[in-house]
Amino acid sequence: MSSRTEAPEDAYTAAPFVPGHAGLTALRRAAADCRGCPLHRDATQTVFGTGAAHARVMLVGEQPGDQEDRQGEPFVGPAGKLLDRALTEAGIDPADAYVTNAVKHFKFTQTEPGKRRIHRAPNLREMTACGPWLAKELELVAPELIVVLGATAGKALLGSSFRVTQVRGTVLEEEIHGRRERLVPTVHPSAVLRAEDREAAYRGLVADLEVAVRALG
Ligand code: URA
Repeated sequence: MSSRTEAPEDAYTAAPFVPGHAGLTALRRAAADCRGCPLHRDATQTVFGTGAAHARVMLVGEQPGDQEDRQGEPFVGPAGKLLDRALTEAGIDPADAYVTNAVKHFKFTQTEPGKRRIHRAPNLREMTACGPWLAKELELVAPELIVVLGATAGKALLGSSFRVTQVRGTVLEEEIHGRRERLVPTVHPSAVLRAEDREAAYRGLVADLEVAVRALG
């Protein structure tokens, strides 16, 4: 158990847990002990970003799901499988990308132990608290382009007025955590899995990823 006490509710932040000078490996190790907000209490483990250390593309999702929480890796469940397929089809080798989430712990409800864990979206406080990890990942990986997967990632990176439907499939340029970044927002792969017309939603995701490929040149 960490000797650090948890911050009061109005001051959740991962900042004291983020080492100032560290590479990705040390950062991942430090994130395993993050107690910057209460989500660590129920989650199995921190799910940190993974992939090529100097990837040209960083993909940012919402938070780990049930499978990711158990396995400790982002996007290894059904949404991740769909994402890998869409990336490949658009011309991005998933192995060349760095994949992470806006929030590094799984947030869920469970009516009884042993019952299915139901995903709950992180709130603004939890997203903000987790921001220092994403800021450091951006600094270290220094990607040429960020693919923003869905509304939570968009709000975490671009602010609470972000609306994925308004900007998906476009190249944005914004100052984020002190760095000028290029971003292509798109829908979250889980939204494709839930869509009534799954094929059309999948085609839309691939088309947005193709915009990212063209922006990379
Ligand atoms: N959804 C996400 O946003 N991230 C994951 O890692 C898995 C599912």
